[in-house]
Amino acid sequence: MSIQEIKKGIYSVGVKDYGLKEFHGYSTPKGATYNSFLIIDDKITLIDGVKKPFTEEHIKNISAIIDIAKIDYIIVNHVEMDHSGSLPEIIKLAPKAKIITNAAAKMALENYYDTTGFEYEIIKTKDSFKAGNKTFSFLCTPLLHWPDSMMTYLNEDKILFSNDGFGQHLCTEHTFAKDADYKEVISEAKRYYANILYLYANQAKTAIKNAGDLGLDIEMIATAHGLIWNGKEEVETILSLYNKWANGEDDGSALVIFDTMWGSTKILAETVVKTFAENNIKVETCDLSEMHISDIIPKFLDAKYICIGNPTLNNQLFPRVAQFLTYMKGLKPLNKKALAFGSYGWKSGVVNQIQAVFEELGWQSVSPFEEQCAPKPQDLQTIKQRVEELIK
Ligand code: FEO
Repeated sequence: MSIQEIKKGIYSVGVKDYGLKEFHGYSTPKGATYNSFLIIDDKITLIDGVKKPFTEEHIKNISAIIDIAKIDYIIVNHVEMDHSGSLPEIIKLAPKAKIITNAAAKMALENYYDTTGFEYEIIKTKDSFKAGNKTFSFLCTPLLHWPDSMMTYLNEDKILFSNDGFGQHLCTEHTFAKDADYKEVISEAKRYYANILYLYANQAKTAIKNAGDLGLDIEMIATAHGLIWNGKEEVETILSLYNKWANGEDDGSALVIFDTMWGSTKILAETVVKTFAENNIKVETCDLSEMHISDIIPKFLDAKYICIGNPTLNNQLFPRVAQFLTYMKGLKPLNKKALAFGSYGWKSGVVNQIQAVFEELGWQSVSPFEEQCAPKPQDLQTIKQRVEELIK
């Protein structure tokens, strides 16, 4: 049971999933939380549900505070099943509850659940809703993370219930970021942004702009995943990080990502790394045989140069390289400068598949480089020149 009063009369009633190890290809070794909030006033409001297997625990958490049948309103910020799975059972137990949500979320609820008998109040950005003495304002944030996503601001308490936005897949005994290992919370917020929201940078920028235009005075961000950002300083920190990430502000560093079979591509990768270092460019190596793809993607938020090395297998991309390219392409990092390189035994040309991904993403790149079998001194000289051309 995880219940905590986060502000007078406002309770965190969500659940902790210490066992979650993976979320859609994103490795989550530190688990996840599905946060839900209960606002007790002369009207009672629940914000968001939790993942279906935790329904019983969610109901217990709510029932430890009030009779669940007394819930007047359920605000649905997002219908993905980690936030809506418990709602059908809760609605059965809270028959007078009206669902407050946007039109896209209503449609998503109807597509995923039997919603017979659900009552709705449909809102849109800038709308306000009065629940007793509390006033909720809404900010639709389509594609952060699904078309139905929205955030809810509680005016009197200056809390933004941000759902997926500003979250982290991090499960600890704590509720507030300041009580946990703050560096770890920031690091997990970065992993979360990179692996879940990277491709929606424009939507993130719009959401932050709209929050500013609405004049929201945010003192607390109660995300639906992980730890709550409490106080102006923490709120400013996470908002400015999202601004930086969404605007693609890199630090000029380089990433060299590769896999290898008999060591040839590794030798090329080492030469690429050495050349960046000789040019005083911070560089990191990511060996795909040792690192999970979801630990590499957050590094794209800082890197300006991306170099990807492939050893040819059966006239194809090496499987771990192909997997990484697919994952990376889906997340659409923008504004990178890139080099594709690799080795082959008897059939050249596979490296062009990496080049095609760079072109699809609109990255600037230099000609790809491939060599046969073990790299010779001339090969190392050529790839060094390619890197120098890239950083010119
Ligand atoms: Fe946490 Fe988009 O669900």
